[in-house]
Amino acid sequence: MSTEHRQPEIVIRSMEIDDIAPAYHLGEKLFTLRAFPNLYRIWDEYEIIDFYHDSSESCFSAFAEGNLVGFLLGTVIEKTKKRKYGYLVWTGVEPEYSRLGIASRLFEAFKDLCISKDVVMIIVDTQADNYQAIDFFTGKGFGDAQDHVYLTLDLRKEAAKGDAHGRAT
Ligand SMILES: CC(C)(COP(=O)(O)OP(=O)(O)OC[C@H]1O[C@@H](n2cnc3c(N)ncnc32)[C@H](O)[C@@H]1OP(=O)(O)O)[C@@H](O)C(=O)NCCC(=O)NCCS
Repeated sequence: MSTEHRQPEIVIRSMEIDDIAPAYHLGEKLFTLRAFPNLYRIWDEYEIIDFYHDSSESCFSAFAEGNLVGFLLGTVIEKTKKRKYGYLVWTGVEPEYSRLGIASRLFEAFKDLCISKDVVMIIVDTQADNYQAIDFFTGKGFGDAQDHVYLTLDLRKEAAKGDAHGRAT
C-alpha cells in the first residue's frame, strides 16, 4: 500500500545482526548499476558486514510496519585524540517510504552519536549527479562541496587491446 496518505510509525534503533540481510537487499535495490554505477560496484554483503563488525555503534536501522525500511552505515575516525571525524558512508530508504523523514531520523541518530564522541566534523560523499542525496545533505547543513572524481580502468578492454596486439592472455 502506498504511504501517500498515511504516516506509519517509524522506529530507529542501532543496527542488529538480523538487520544485515534486509539492509543489504535494500541497498541492492537502491544502488543500481543504472542509477549509481560506482555505488553499485562497491556495495556488497561484505561492505555491510564490515561496518557492522567494525563500527556497529554508528550503524542504524529504521523500521516501519515490522519491516526494515532504511539504514545508515557510518564510522568515527580518530585522527588524533582531539580530532575525530564522523564519516557517513551509506544511507538508504525504501522508496515507498521516501519523504517521511526516515533518513533525517537516521542522520540525527548518527549525528547525536558523533556529538557524544566529540567529533569535530561529519563528512559525506556521493556521486555528483545524486541530486536527491545532495539536496538531503545540504538540507542538513552540509556544505563546502569539493570535487571528487571517480575514474575506472576497464580491465576487459585492456585485455582486448592486448589480444588485438597478438599478446597471449
Ligand atoms: C536520499 C535518501 C536517503 C533520502 O531519504 P528520505 O527518507 O526520503 O529523506 P527525508 O524524508 O528525511 O528527507 C529530508 C529532506 O531531504 C531532501 N530530499 C529527500 N529526498 C529528496 C529527493 N528525492 N529530491 C529532493 N530532495 C530530497 C528534502 O529536502 C527533504 O525534506 P522534505 O521532504 O521536507 O522536502 C533516499 O532518497 C535514498 O535512499 N536515496 C537512494 C540512496 C542514496 O542516494 N543514498 C545516499 C548516498 S549513500
